[in-house]
Amino acid sequence: MLNRLQSSISSLLDARIKGHSLPAGLYTREDVFHADLDVFFANQWIYVGLECDVPEAGDAVVIDVGTTSLILLRDDDDEIRVVRNVCRHRGARLLDAGPTVVSKLVCSYHQWTYELSGELSYAPHMGKDFDKSCRSLKAVNFKSIGGLIYVCLAENAPPDIERLKEIMEERLAPYDIRNAKVAHQVDVIEKGNWKLTIENNRECYHCSANHPELCVSFVDLDFGYDPESLSPEDRDEAEAHVAMYSERIKSWEADGFPSSAIEQVKNCNTNFRTQRLIIAGAGESQTEDATAASSRFLGQVTRSDLGDIHLWGHNSWNHFMGDHAVTAIVIPLSADATLVRTKWLVHKDAVEGVDYDLGKLTHVWVETTNQDAELVARAHAGVQDSAYEPGVYSKFSEGALDDFASWYVDRMRAHGY
Ligand code: FES
Ligand code: FE
Repeated sequence: MLNRLQSSISSLLDARIKGHSLPAGLYTREDVFHADLDVFFANQWIYVGLECDVPEAGDAVVIDVGTTSLILLRDDDDEIRVVRNVCRHRGARLLDAGPTVVSKLVCSYHQWTYELSGELSYAPHMGKDFDKSCRSLKAVNFKSIGGLIYVCLAENAPPDIERLKEIMEERLAPYDIRNAKVAHQVDVIEKGNWKLTIENNRECYHCSANHPELCVSFVDLDFGYDPESLSPEDRDEAEAHVAMYSERIKSWEADGFPSSAIEQVKNCNTNFRTQRLIIAGAGESQTEDATAASSRFLGQVTRSDLGDIHLWGHNSWNHFMGDHAVTAIVIPLSADATLVRTKWLVHKDAVEGVDYDLGKLTHVWVETTNQDAELVARAHAGVQDSAYEPGVYSKFSEGALDDFASWYVDRMRAHGY
């Protein structure tokens, strides 16, 4: 036990076996947690919010990531800005966590006052010679990708975010997520390490036994199966499914809706995968009966048969459907606690009770998120136990986890661990 606690992060990375989950300490240790915040949340592009979180000038929302606090706001010229939530006088926090509306950013400590552009406009008791022009709030490097706000706190931001931008701007254009409305938001704190949260999201091996609501709209065969265990009839069905998929993707793309699977998961900084997935059953949306929850579709979408554009990154997962979108942000809170912030988006003019029923809109992912929180807590409890040893991934259903674990180790190495 003593050796395990004293081993360096580097030796934990050395101990990772391809095809297996990570050594326990990489999920549980405080020093690894702080290294993760640095490598994966301060030096990578992370998804933190949406343009439509701040639809009007003066809307602001504070997002905390570790000891860093960010203000996402819309300024008086309707431009999106992201600034550090640290007063340039003696560093006090300007705004508390969560959403608010402001005309200026006023520090409650000594009333230094900033315009929504971040410029310092008022600093009492500082004398005539005091130069306010070099005391603006620190701006944060950000990109809006189809209305999703990604930030990077590093001086040298990884340039390979551009591939994500190129692909998703086109893919999301018809949905006009920039001008959508956040119909609902739920924060769940999972009692587990953030990497267990992400691993859990990257497989659906657990879906049929744990997500009865989600499975109405998910196509089981999409998430891997063991071909050797299939009966001849099931094998025929699986082959027919693969053929049907490639037909649907061809047909969507012929109609101008990019759909093919694209991933950047190896030898990269920005880690993502996207594909347009078929929705099972009624085929329209991730609801209890797979029919649309909102009669007012997103953006310029008019068709109900556009499936689900899924997009995952190293701190998010998303589903964009014709009638609504579900988007989740993952922020580590400690080695054993992770915030999962889920938002449901609808057309900006969709009216609750008229165009959509909030219960129908949110039911599937409220249940799924709670079920996943329970699974992640179970996984974390187990990896803390001295009986845990890295487990073998299913080559049919957990290949994406193996890729994620390998990417994790590679990125840690690239940062000198
Ligand atoms: Fe903000 Fe003094 S710390 S005004
Ligand atoms: Fe799940």
